[in-house]
Amino acid sequence: MKIDRELLTLGIETSCDETSASVTRGGRHVLSNVISSQIHVHEAFGGVVPEIASRHHLTQINAVIDTAMKDAGVAFPDLDLIGVTEGPGLVGAVLIGLSTAKAMALALDKPLVGVHHIKGHICAAYLEHEELSPPLLSLVVSGGHTYLIDVRDHQNFEILGRTRDDAVGEAFDKVARVLGLGYPGGPKVDEAARRGNPEAVAFKRVMLEKDSLDFSFSGIKTGVLNYVNTERQAGRPINLADVAASFQASVVDVVVAKTQLAIDRAGYKTLTVGGGVASNSLLRRRLTEACDAAGVKLYIPSPIFCTDNAAMIACAAHCDYIAGKVSSLNLDAKANFQL
Ligand code: KG4
Ligand code: ZN
Repeated sequence: MKIDRELLTLGIETSCDETSASVTRGGRHVLSNVISSQIHVHEAFGGVVPEIASRHHLTQINAVIDTAMKDAGVAFPDLDLIGVTEGPGLVGAVLIGLSTAKAMALALDKPLVGVHHIKGHICAAYLEHEELSPPLLSLVVSGGHTYLIDVRDHQNFEILGRTRDDAVGEAFDKVARVLGLGYPGGPKVDEAARRGNPEAVAFKRVMLEKDSLDFSFSGIKTGVLNYVNTERQAGRPINLADVAASFQASVVDVVVAKTQLAIDRAGYKTLTVGGGVASNSLLRRRLTEACDAAGVKLYIPSPIFCTDNAAMIACAAHCDYIAGKVSSLNLDAKANFQL
């Protein structure tokens, strides 16, 4: 019988606009991680179109899985389990990965493990750090989610803070649209901000109630829009790099301040970060400075593991499986799904 660190997991992720499959050994050792991005397909629409996303997953999924198996040098009968995102996400998109995983589990007679997508983003930090384990604080910042999570162990989580409206990545995407920078907005704003002055425009830092660990990013898009309209009406030229840098600074200030508060409250000495926005250069720098000052060990995955990827799903499935979780073939896709 294989021991935990030898178990071969096939992970499948299709919750939004990335079709991904990965094979891991022992959950954390990534043998392959194939990501087929649909960004070019949705670019023309300025955002993800759910129906198009589902169709794209359907055309890509078999080839992506085949490539992941070949890259890993693993044959289907050698797999020990199949992990798949069961939600939250675009339900039609999740269903493509889920149906494929269920069919494979049935045909190959392998255990199926449904994975919470956010748990995947938490586990992303484990992929490059064999020694890392809870308890820890995790900041998950993506296009659909903004969470500060107390990770007590691999199965026990408490959400300390969440967004009350837009996710942080959503704010980046919306502001990029207002500024005409294109889609997806996060990397474009990050890039433009490098050339700008973060103090050029004083956008509000929305901190909500004193001591609250929740976030609100819905107002910042309006703030940027109002600024741009006022300047245009007054006939003043707009420096896009300055606006991008000022917007980014205001959002990162809030995220870092709330994260510091959460670190103090949870009392942990380890912080992990996950989700697409974890690739943001200013956020990475500011969190590094804050953690250095506080004596907190910081783990931010490489960008390929920040974005949606199946390696993090395989890792989470492995954690769940060794804790005794196996899903039934009746597993259903969940648009909303509590951690
Ligand atoms: O985790 P992810 O790939 O998908 C979701 O689960 O949502 O995150 C995508 C989000 C998008 O909103 C994208 O604009 C944002 O992450 N993002 C960034 C950067 N790279 C990606 N936001 C800010 N700065 C970046 N460098
Ligand atoms: Zn995600």
